[in-house]
Amino acid sequence: MDSIGSLGLQQREGAPSCPQEGLRCPSNSSELVPECLQQFRVTGAQLRQIQTSLLDSMEQALKGQASPAPAVRMLPTYVGSTPHGTEKGDFVVLELGATGASLRVLWVTLMGIEGHKMEPRSQEFMIPQEVMLGPGQQLFDFAARCLSEFLDALPVGNQGLQLGFSFSFPCHQTGLDKSTLISWTKGFRCSGVEGQDVVQLLRDAIQRQGTYSIDVVAVVNDTVGTMMGCEPGVGPCEVGLVVDTGTNACYMEEARHVAVLDEDRGRVCISVEWGSFSDDGALGPVLTIFDRTLDHESLNLGAQRFEKMIGGLYLGELVRLVLAHLARCGVLFGGYTSPALLRQGGILLEHVAEMEDPSAGAARVHAILQDLGLNPRASDAEFVQHVCAAVCTRAAQLCAAALAAVLSRLQHSREQQTLQIAVATGGRVFERHPRFLSILQETVMLLAPECDVSFIPSVDGGGQGVAMVTAVAARLAAHRCLLEETLAPFRLTREQLAAVQAQMREAMAKGLQGEASSLRMLPTYVRATPDGSERGDFLALDLGGTNFRVLLVRVATGGVQITSQIYSIPECVAQGSGQQLFDHIVDCIVDFQEKQGLSGQSLPLGFTFSFPCTQLGLDQGILLNWTKGFNASDCEGQDVVCLLREAIGRRQAVELNVVAIVNDTVGTMMSCGYEDPHCEVGLIVGTGTNACYMEELRNVASVAGDSGHMCINMEWGAFGDDGSLSMLSTRFDASVDQASINTGKQRFEKMISGMYLGEIVRHTLLHLTSLGVLFRGQQTQHLQTRDIFKTKFLSEIESDSLALRQVRAILEDLGLSLTSDDALMVLEVCQAVSQRAAQLCGAGVAAVVEKIRENRGLEELTVSVGVDGTLYKLHPHFSSLVAATVRELAPRCVVTFLQSEDGSGKGAALVTAVACRLAQMTCV
Ligand code: BG6
Ligand code: GLC
Ligand code: GLC
Repeated sequence: MDSIGSLGLQQREGAPSCPQEGLRCPSNSSELVPECLQQFRVTGAQLRQIQTSLLDSMEQALKGQASPAPAVRMLPTYVGSTPHGTEKGDFVVLELGATGASLRVLWVTLMGIEGHKMEPRSQEFMIPQEVMLGPGQQLFDFAARCLSEFLDALPVGNQGLQLGFSFSFPCHQTGLDKSTLISWTKGFRCSGVEGQDVVQLLRDAIQRQGTYSIDVVAVVNDTVGTMMGCEPGVGPCEVGLVVDTGTNACYMEEARHVAVLDEDRGRVCISVEWGSFSDDGALGPVLTIFDRTLDHESLNLGAQRFEKMIGGLYLGELVRLVLAHLARCGVLFGGYTSPALLRQGGILLEHVAEMEDPSAGAARVHAILQDLGLNPRASDAEFVQHVCAAVCTRAAQLCAAALAAVLSRLQHSREQQTLQIAVATGGRVFERHPRFLSILQETVMLLAPECDVSFIPSVDGGGQGVAMVTAVAARLAAHRCLLEETLAPFRLTREQLAAVQAQMREAMAKGLQGEASSLRMLPTYVRATPDGSERGDFLALDLGGTNFRVLLVRVATGGVQITSQIYSIPECVAQGSGQQLFDHIVDCIVDFQEKQGLSGQSLPLGFTFSFPCTQLGLDQGILLNWTKGFNASDCEGQDVVCLLREAIGRRQAVELNVVAIVNDTVGTMMSCGYEDPHCEVGLIVGTGTNACYMEELRNVASVAGDSGHMCINMEWGAFGDDGSLSMLSTRFDASVDQASINTGKQRFEKMISGMYLGEIVRHTLLHLTSLGVLFRGQQTQHLQTRDIFKTKFLSEIESDSLALRQVRAILEDLGLSLTSDDALMVLEVCQAVSQRAAQLCGAGVAAVVEKIRENRGLEELTVSVGVDGTLYKLHPHFSSLVAATVRELAPRCVVTFLQSEDGSGKGAALVTAVACRLAQMTCV
C-alpha cells in the first residue's frame, strides 16, 4: 500500500495544549459512537450555506475586492482555451505537490490528431521528509535529480527538451512560465520559496544539475492539468476538480469578469484555491472537535480549513482522531490503543478507503486494524466502518457544495438557465475511494439541479493536460523568439547611435564645404533671430505639413497675434501640375483676404515652404526636389517665389508682396526664438523631418563673408541617401522606400517621420503574419492596405494610459481582428519602430548641438531647440527619448526643447518682419 503522505501533520514545538485534550468521555459511553458520527453529519441547509458563501467569496475575489479579503483567491492561470487536440510533440512533465510526498516525471507524446493517444511513460519518486521541510534549493535540486534519473533511462540524447511543470500550490501567475508561490499548503514547508518564481527555481536547479538541456516552458496547477487533459466529449471540459492530498478546482471564466486581467474577450482558466475557504459563518457549524485538533497539529495552523475536511492527506487523520478518542473512552478496542493509533499519520487514506468499502468484509477490517497494532473486538469492525463512512461522506458532500458553487458561477457568468457541463476529476481520493464520486454526484444533483454534469475521470493524473499547456506555451515562446528576431534590427545600441552622430557630423562638414554629401546644408539667408523690436502686420503661408494654412500675423508691442485658416490640398492637386497647385494656393489666399477684410491691401508675405530649396536670397527659393507626399509637375528647378508670383499674376485682382521664403524648421526656430534668445536650432518631426541651426558664416562655403551667422537648413531627411545608412536599414524600411513616390530618397526621413512610421509598422506586421506569429497567420485585406496605420495610431497605441483592450479596440477599428496576444505584439512593434525613430532623431540633434559647441570653442553649450510636428507633439514618449539620446551622445551640451505653439507661419512672418526692419534701417 503506497502512502499518500502524512507529513502535513507535524507536532509543533511549544504549541499550546491540544484541543483534543478538551475531549471528555461521557458517563454513558454507549452514546459516544452515535454522538461522534452525528458530528460529521452535514445538513442540506448547511451545504447550501457553504455553496452560497463560497460563491459570494468567488465573486468578490473576481471583482478584485481587497478588503475584507475574500475567502478564496481565484487565481488566473494563463490558460485561455481548452485544447483543440491538434497540439503535438514530445514533452517532459514534472509533477510536484499533487500527491503527498511523491514527485512524478512523465514523458508525454502528443499526436496532433484528436483522439489519438500514446501512453505516457512515467516514474514516481518519494520525496524524503527532510526535503519537504528543508531549504527550497534542496527540494528543487531533488526534482532536477529525479528528472535526470528518469531521462537517463530514455533514448533522449542531448536534444533540447520542453518541460511542463505541474506545481500544485497556490501561486500568482504572471505568465505561462512565471509563477510566484503564495504559500505552501499540504505537507510542504521548504524555506526560501514563498514569494519566489518557482519556474526560475526549477530552471536554476536544472542548470546546476547540468545533465540535460531542458527548457521549463509552462507551469500549471494540477486542476488545470486535469481539465486540459480531459478528452473532449459532447462539449469541452471546462472544470477541473482535484481531490488528492489537497483539494481544489479550476474552471473557465469569462475574462471580462476577472478584474485583475486587462482583457474583455474570451475566457481564462481560474484556479479557485477553494482549500483555503474559511468562512466562520458557513464552516463553523460543521467543524468538529476533531477538525480543530487536526488543524492544531498541522503545519499550517488556521489555514486551508476547508481542505482539511476533504483532502486525502487529512481523511485518515480525522478517522484516527475519532478512533483514538473512542478507544480512550473505552468504547473501542477494549479501551486499548496502539502506537499507530496514537501517532499522527498513523492511519492513511488507503486504510480508510479500504475499511469503508462495503465489499470489504469484517475480516478485512479486522486485518487492517490488527496491522495498525490494534486488537479489535467483534463489534469494533462495524463501528470503525461507520466512522470511516461518516468522515468520507462529509468530505464528498462538502466537495459537492464547493463544486455546486463553481457550477452556479458558470451559470451566472454565461447567463444560462441550465448548464450542460463536463467536469474532469483527478486525484487519488477519486481513484481509491469508490463511494466518493457517487456521493459527490448525488449531492451536486441536489444542490445544483439545473446543471447537467458529466464527470470524466482523468486518465493519467493530468500529465497529458500539462503537456497540452506546454505545447501551447512552447508555440507562444517560439513566436516570441520570432518577434524578437524581427524587432532586433530596430533596436540600436549606443555604439550604432554614436556612429550615426559621427556620420552626420561628417556629412554636415562636407555639405557646408560644397563637397558631395547627402546633407545639402542649404543657406537660408536668415542671419539673425528676432530681437523683439519688429512690428507690423504680415501675411504668411504655411505649406508642406499636415495642413496648408494662410495666416495674418500682427506683431505689436504687446506680442504676436495670429489669425489663420486651414485649407485642404487634395492629393490630386499636390501631385498634379505645378500651375494647378500654385493657382489653388492663390485661391486660398484670396479667400482668406476676403474673409479678413484685407482685400486690396498688399501686406508683406512670408512663405513657409517645407521642401528643400536653394536660396540665393531671402525671397528666392529654387525647389530642388519634392519630398513627402508632394509631386506637382514642373516645379523642381524653379523658383517657388516666382511660381507664386506668376499665379498671383494670373489672378489679376490680387497684389502680394512676397518678402521671404522660409523652411518650416527655420520658421519654428524663429518662432521659438522670439521667446527665447538661446533658440538656435529648429527641429521638425511631423509628416517629414528636418533641422536647421545657426552656423558660423565662415564655415559656409557657398555664401560670401566670414563674420556673423547664417541659419542652415540641413535637409537631414536626405541623410543616408548616399547609402551610408544601409547598415541600419531593415527589410521593412526597404519595402516602405520601394513603395514610396521617391524611392531611394529621404532615407533618414523614412526611418523617422510620421508619414512613414505607420507604414514600417504595417510591413513588420505583414511579415509577422506571414511567419504565423500574428493574427493566426491569416493575412487580411486590411493589413495589405497602404497607409492604414497613421502616425496618430502609433501615438494612441503607445499611450501609457491605454489598457491593452483599448489598443485592441483601436486596431479593430482598422478592421483587424486580433487576440490580446496579438495586441501586445502590435504594441511592441510600434514601440520598437518609434523608439528607433526617436533615437535616430536624437543622434541627429546631438550632432548639431555638438557642432555649434565646437564652432564656438565652448566647454559647455547651453542651447534651445524649437520643435514642431505632429509626431513629436502627440507621441507619448518620442520627445523624452529624443532628449535622453541627446543627453547620452552630447553630454557637454545642455539642451532645452521648446515646443512651438504657433506653427512655422508665425516664424515666417517674423523672418519677414526682420527683413523689413533691416530694409528700413538700410533706407535710414
Ligand atoms: C508646423 C508647421 O510648425 O509643423 C508646418 O507650421 C510644418 O508647416 C509642421 O510642416 C510639421 O508638422 P506636420 O506634422 O504638420 O508635418
Ligand atoms: C492544494 C493546493 C492547490 C491544489 C490542491 C490539489 O489545495 O493549494 O493548488 O490544486 O491542493 O492538489
Ligand atoms: C521634408 C522637407 C523639409 C522639411 C521637412 C519637415 O524633409 O524636405 O524641407 O523641413 O520635411 O517638414
